[in-house]
Formats: sequence, C-alpha cells, structure tokens
Amino acid sequence: MSDFRCSAKAPSNIALIKYMGKEDPVLNLPANPSISLTLDSLCTMTEVTLGERHGGAVQAELSPVKVHNTVETQLSELAIQKIIHHTKRVIDCLVPEPERGLFHDKTIEIRTTNSFPMGSGIASSASGFAALTLAIAKLCKEVFGKTNPGLNPISMTLLSQISRQGSGSSCRSFEGPWVLWENQSACKIESRLPPLTDLILLVRTQPKKISSSQAHELVKTSPLWEGRVNRVREKIKLLQAALVQDDLAAVSKIAWSELWEMHSLFHTSRETFTYFEPATLQALKWIQPELIGKTPPIVTLDAGPNVHFIVPALSAQMWKEKIQAEFPGFKILEDQQGLGASYGIPTKSCETHFHR
Ligand code: PMV
Repeated sequence: MSDFRCSAKAPSNIALIKYMGKEDPVLNLPANPSISLTLDSLCTMTEVTLGERHGGAVQAELSPVKVHNTVETQLSELAIQKIIHHTKRVIDCLVPEPERGLFHDKTIEIRTTNSFPMGSGIASSASGFAALTLAIAKLCKEVFGKTNPGLNPISMTLLSQISRQGSGSSCRSFEGPWVLWENQSACKIESRLPPLTDLILLVRTQPKKISSSQAHELVKTSPLWEGRVNRVREKIKLLQAALVQDDLAAVSKIAWSELWEMHSLFHTSRETFTYFEPATLQALKWIQPELIGKTPPIVTLDAGPNVHFIVPALSAQMWKEKIQAEFPGFKILEDQQGLGASYGIPTKSCETHFHR
C-alpha cells in the first residue's frame, strides 16, 4: 500500500459564555452550556501520513513542519502523548475492530503547526484537537472507506463529539460563526450580527501557571460556584435572543458580566489564582466607559490575561488604532469570524497579522 496523506485546518474559538467546570472529566462533558464565536485564520493545520512500518501497533511520530507563513509548533512531551492518545481514540471510534488490524504494520506521522506563535496567549488545544480529529478521520475514510462499507459514517457532529474528548472547547471549532455547546452536542446557532473581527490585546505571552484543566477543577471549590449552572442557563437564553435580534449592546453586556463571573470564580476558589496582569485591568478599566454606547465592543477574556475586543469588521480599523494608541507597547492579534474546520489546508488560509 502506498502512503496516504490527509490534512485539515481548524480555527480557534472564543467563548462569550464560558465552559468552566466539568460534569464528566473523562468525557469532557461540561457543567454548563457555552456559546462561542469561531475564528478563521488563528488556526491549526495538521497533516497526517500513513506509511509502512516494520511491526508494532499504531504509532504516531511528531515532527513539526513549517506551513505557509506560520510559526513552528514546539510541543511538550505531554502534548505529544495527548496527540498520540487522541489519534488512537479517533481510529477506535471510526474504524470497526476487525479493520483496525490494517494499521498494525503502519506508522502514522503527524505534522502540525499553528498560525499563531505558541505562548501567544491563544489557546491552541481547541484548534489543535479539532484539526487532528478531522485529519485522522479523513485518513480513515481514505484508507478504509472504499473497501470497507463497515466504516462508521463520519459527520462533523460525530467528529466534534470525538474531538471534545481530547479538548472540551475543540468541539466548538467545527462550525461557525456562532456555536452553542450543550452536553454532547455543539451546533451552529443563528445570529444576525454583522461580520465581526476579534482584536486581541496581547498582555502577556508566557505559558500560564494554572492550566485550564486545573481551573476546571478549582472553580468548583469557590463559594460562587453554587447557582452558577442556573445563572449560565439564563445568560444563554439572553445571548441567543440578543444574537438573533442583532442587539450588539445586549451581547456586549452579557459577555462583560460573564468575563467577570468566570474570573471571580478563579479569584475565590479554595486556592485563589488569577490570570490578570496589570495591563489586563488597565485595559478593562479603559474600555468600560465605551460599553454604554449603542454599538459597544464585545469584551472578553479566556483563562488568560489577554483582552479580546470583538467589533464589527467595518469598525475594526478604527478600534485597532484606538487600542494601539492606548497600549503602544503591546501587540494586537487580529482575526475574523469563521465557519469552522475543513478538510485540506487551503493556501493563503492561515496568515496571521500582528500589529504594533
Ligand atoms: O477546552 P479547555 O479544557 O481548554 O477549556 C477552555 C476553557 C475556556 O477557554 C476558559 C472557556 C471556553 O469556553 O473556551
């Protein structure tokens, strides 16, 4: 059998209503629903190659590769182990047991790269697991699909569910621009908002001390955890309504309240921790007076210190200049809303733009 090569691209996503706290830590089922905006060129591109191997079971070798104007991904040993584990998971979910034997004398080489620098403050696990899931699924289809009608049908819904087991938030990167994730299902939802641009003020780019996995556990020890699930359900309803009504002011208000609620959980957990940096607070205080207008920016933070200003694409230039003028020493990362993961790596798809 000659080498099979498949590739996929998946974008990052930014949640306005946050997935924070797990109901089932093994399956990565969330304690509460979340809603996110899928990005476009802040993405991971992954290429997988099935080649000949002498003996042994499924193996995944990692070798970073530079793909079109991107930055090489430096993966830790732990990240490599997670990728190998997830690769096996995808194959186990898609290929029935008897056919899996075909992989036994093969090697799978995985090349993966992000369009954004590691440690740029952009979560790579969402885009990374989504791209890996899609690329391996394509490989399974190519290798077994034609000869084995027993191959389980592959839909984006199924792939999103498999991907979630590698990294929870990755299940929202398969569709876009707006996605609601509840229990097992992550689905596109309606929005009449104009096309949006995410301007990310990079306050700090070093790896964070508390991983999101640790944060998911710690938030449950906060006295503010009680009632969180019901509060989120209410916010989900309000946000869905605001999206459909093209009510940017309401969306902005909900995102603002949710950013403070999630970070308050961090600040009040049994072992308190914070992602805030001085410039994070400075940016939040600076933007607050702007939130009362009719078309305010949507402001949010992930489990990190960098500030996302999500604005209508038509006013992005104006906002970029304003933010640059206020924070001249900091970089701004910019991306548009997107439609989710796709097979193949389109040329010119994943350029990132840094502004000083
Ligand atoms: O997918 P995880 O386990 O890295 O969790 C992501 C958690 C947040 O980014 C903080 C919130 C979210 O909904 O994306």
